[in-house]
Amino acid sequence: MTKILEMYKCNICGNIVEVVLSGEGELVCCGQPMEKMEEHTNNEEMTGEKHVPVIEKTQDGVIVKVGSIPHPMENEHYIMFIEVNSKDKRYVKRKYLHPHEEPVLNLKCSCDKVIARELCNIHGLWTSNESQS
Ligand SMILES: [Fe+2]
Repeated sequence: MTKILEMYKCNICGNIVEVVLSGEGELVCCGQPMEKMEEHTNNEEMTGEKHVPVIEKTQDGVIVKVGSIPHPMENEHYIMFIEVNSKDKRYVKRKYLHPHEEPVLNLKCSCDKVIARELCNIHGLWTSNESQS
């Protein structure tokens, strides 16, 4: 069974999907079950300072940066997207990025508490729910 907002990857073709609504079934791609993507946090790896999203409140929303030390945005190694979810899972906003862009998402919202995630093309999925106001 899947849960809302989980991400799954196909290890054969590279498809990545996010669950919009939960279901009982198993997600399958290229003839085999998709792998649930682990969400890394700052406690796990030495590269956390370049990957864990930093959430800062602004006057009219939040700004999310990747990370506390800016992540590289080179052709071979870059942040593919930044996503912000309200903690109650009612709102989702995703910004796709390209190499040489700044890994920042500036979002106008009245959300009180948010979770931010980002996907590095090499180091995978990272998350943070710590607001720095
Ligand atoms: Fe990375």
